[in-house]
Amino acid sequence: MKTLVKNIKELVGIETTPQLRKQGKEMSRLETVKDAYLIVEDGKFAAFGPMRAENGDAYPDSIKNAKFDIEIDATDRLVFPSFCDSHTHLVYANSREMEFVDKIRGLSYEEIAKRGGGILNSAKATAAASEDELYDMAWRRLEEVMRLGTGAIEIKSGYGLTTESELKLLRVIRRLKENSPLTIKSNFLGAHGIPMEYRGHQEDYVDLVINEMIPLVAAEGLADFIDVFCDQGFFTCEDTERILDAGIKYGMRPKIHANEMAISGGVQVGVKYGAISVDHLEQMGDAEIECLKGTETMPTILPGCAFFLNLPLSPARKMVDAGLPVAMASDYNPGTSPSNNMQLILSMACIRYRLTPEEAFNATTLNTAYAMGVSNELGSIAVGKKANFYITKSIPSYEYMPYAYGENKVERIFLNGVEL
Ligand code: NIG
Ligand code: FE
Repeated sequence: MKTLVKNIKELVGIETTPQLRKQGKEMSRLETVKDAYLIVEDGKFAAFGPMRAENGDAYPDSIKNAKFDIEIDATDRLVFPSFCDSHTHLVYANSREMEFVDKIRGLSYEEIAKRGGGILNSAKATAAASEDELYDMAWRRLEEVMRLGTGAIEIKSGYGLTTESELKLLRVIRRLKENSPLTIKSNFLGAHGIPMEYRGHQEDYVDLVINEMIPLVAAEGLADFIDVFCDQGFFTCEDTERILDAGIKYGMRPKIHANEMAISGGVQVGVKYGAISVDHLEQMGDAEIECLKGTETMPTILPGCAFFLNLPLSPARKMVDAGLPVAMASDYNPGTSPSNNMQLILSMACIRYRLTPEEAFNATTLNTAYAMGVSNELGSIAVGKKANFYITKSIPSYEYMPYAYGENKVERIFLNGVEL
C-alpha cells in the first residue's frame, strides 16, 4: 500500500543520516522541511521532500506520475514522528487517588510506602484481578496513549511482587504486544517494592526474584529488559547488582530506576552493568553526570513524576550542556504519574527543564526510542523506518506543540503506515 501526504506545512523530525541518539549540542538539531510531501509504502517511510522544486515546479516527477492508494492533504498541518514513551507502568489494576489526597494532607511518598500503601496497595489489587481484566484495562489505556501521539511504549511489570502475579502482568504485556499496533517492549520489574512479609530480610525477596522469577520469566521469553527500583527505602545497590547480574545471564538488558529519593549509587550501578537507560534522576550530583559521559546509558528524566510528587527537578539543562544525551518519558503509573500524555511531557521539558523545543522533541522521540532499544526503526522520519507518525490540527509552528500545554494538538494518527 502506498500513501502520499501532501501540502504539509512543515514536516518535522526528519533524518537524512539517521543516528541512534542525539547528545549534547546535537540535541538542538531538529531537521524539518517546509511545504513538504511524505510517502509511505508498506508500513515504512519511503520518501519525503519539498512540494516544489527551487524552479517552482510542482513535486518531483516520481511523485507527479505515481499512483497512490491514499492521498492526504495536510494543508496548514504539521507532521511529526510519533512519540516513544520509554518508561511506563501501564498494566495496573487500580487508581490511587486516595493516596494523592493523603499526600496533599502532608504524607510523603516514602511514608505512604512504609505503611503498606503505594506499590503494595497496587500489588494487592493486581493479585485480585484476573489476567483478562488486567488486559482489558491496559488495552483501553493503550488506545488513549495512541490517540495522544505515542507510537511506541515500554511497559513494566512490578505490581505483582509474587511469582504468580509478576508472570500474570508480563503475560498481559505479551498479549498487548501481539494485538496492538503500537511497538511495545516489556520490562521485568519484580524488584519494585518489598512485600510486607519480607520487611527486615529483603535479601530473601531478592533471592526469590533471582532464583525463581527470573528463570521463569526467561523460560517464557516474557521480558526484553530487567529493572530494579534502586533507591533509598527500596532496593540497595548490592541488591540491584545481584539482580542485574542474574537478568543479564538470561539475556535481559538492564534499564533501571535510580536516584528518585536520594543519590543512591544507582546511576553508577546502571552504568557498570551497561544499562540501556537509568531513569528518574531527580537527585543528581556532578559525580553522576561525570559517570554517564562516554557511556551507552541514556539518562532518562520523568517530568510527570517530579511534577506529581513535587520532587526536585533533574538537572536536564546541565546534563545536555555537559554533552550528555537526555530522554524524557511519562512514567505513566497510578502512584507517581497518572498521566499518559507525552504532549504534556514535551511541554514540561521546555517549561520546567528549560530545554529548547528542538531538544525537547529529540528527548521525547529519538532518545526515548534509544532508551527502549528501537531507535534503529523508530523515533524520527527517515527512509526505511516504521511509518509511525501523526498529523496535527491546524497549528502555526512546531514551537506551538510544547507552548500550548494541556491542549491535544494531534488530529490524525498513523502506525505502521496505517491510519487509526
Ligand atoms: O517510577 N519509582 C518507582 N516506581 C514508580 C512508581 C510506582 C508507584 O508508586 O506505583 C515510578 O515512579
Ligand atoms: Fe517508573
